[in-house]
Amino acid sequence: MREADSQRKAVVELEKATLAFGDRTLWSDLDLIIESGQFVAVLGANGAGKTSLLKVLLGEQSLNSGTVRIAGSPVRRGSDVVGYVPQRVGIDSGVMVKARDVVRMGLDGHRWGLPVQFGAKRRAMRRTIDEMLAAVGATAFADAPVSMLSGGELQRIRIAEALACDPDLLICDEPLAALDLRHQQEVAALIDRRRREHDTAVIFVTHEINPILPYVDQVLYLAGGRFRLGPPDEVMTSASLSALYDAPVDVISAHGRLVVVAANDMTAGLPQSLDDHAAHSGDGALHGLHDHGHHDPADRSAWRR
Ligand SMILES: Nc1ncnc2c1ncn2[C@@H]1O[C@H](COP(=O)(O)OP(=O)(O)OP(=O)(O)O)[C@@H](O)[C@H]1O
Ligand SMILES: [Mg+2]
Repeated sequence: MREADSQRKAVVELEKATLAFGDRTLWSDLDLIIESGQFVAVLGANGAGKTSLLKVLLGEQSLNSGTVRIAGSPVRRGSDVVGYVPQRVGIDSGVMVKARDVVRMGLDGHRWGLPVQFGAKRRAMRRTIDEMLAAVGATAFADAPVSMLSGGELQRIRIAEALACDPDLLICDEPLAALDLRHQQEVAALIDRRRREHDTAVIFVTHEINPILPYVDQVLYLAGGRFRLGPPDEVMTSASLSALYDAPVDVISAHGRLVVVAANDMTAGLPQSLDDHAAHSGDGALHGLHDHGHHDPADRSAWRR
């Protein structure tokens, strides 16, 4: 419990929220409150409805039933109280935009208002951009064309862009996906520092809970049209996930990391095995979080990753 608890405000309020496409329900009766400074992780297999949840918070997807409020008001698209790091955004390789220009767009599009600044304002703006770039460890490639950046470098620029307008809510869709283990930890720590220093609420979709495990207040775990919501030590247990998947799932804790392992018959035929994952992470078998449990045959997006 922090001192500021008494002044905390609800930044996200979902009440009895249900989202379905056709006859497929992604989640229903979801009550989720995220207060300022809180860090919420959203987990679940491909197609579970994680990005769709973020789209609801961005006002890009309407609910089938229930309500959503952001910072006490109905959602509206393009709100400057929300910063967004989208999932897998590519950059057109022909575009000669510098990394610092992307961060400036994050400022211009919001509170600073004016596209061109002069004199003291211009210097202040440049200082803010430099600070944002330094905060994400991007100073070295600040003036490089974004089309030449690596996936991990580009991801840092995206985070600086999303934070530039000092949002009340930072929405991140798999921001660690393009990063190696060290950069995953650095970016996770950076976002955690931001929410502590600026009281930014964070909702963070990830397949890798370990880099953010020290920071997470609540986990929302989506599977098969249902969910579990609560602190990590309540949700990330064998009992809780076995109940969610309605099948045996073990959560193993080793060296401060969690590994989720489903029974073999649940993982048969899936592209991602424990060994595959370890090979990708380059960090040994006891590293990742594995969403093997939920891939029903109707899950059309399972092939996408
Ligand atoms: N506008 C839409 N109309 C119909 N179906 C949709 C729409 N948007 C998403 N879906 C479907 O809803 C499901 C959830 O999609 P979503 O993008 O939320 O998954 P996700 O949990 O983010 O998955 P991933 O881990 O692959 O990013 C998918 O099966 C997707 O094809
Ligand atoms: Mg997604």
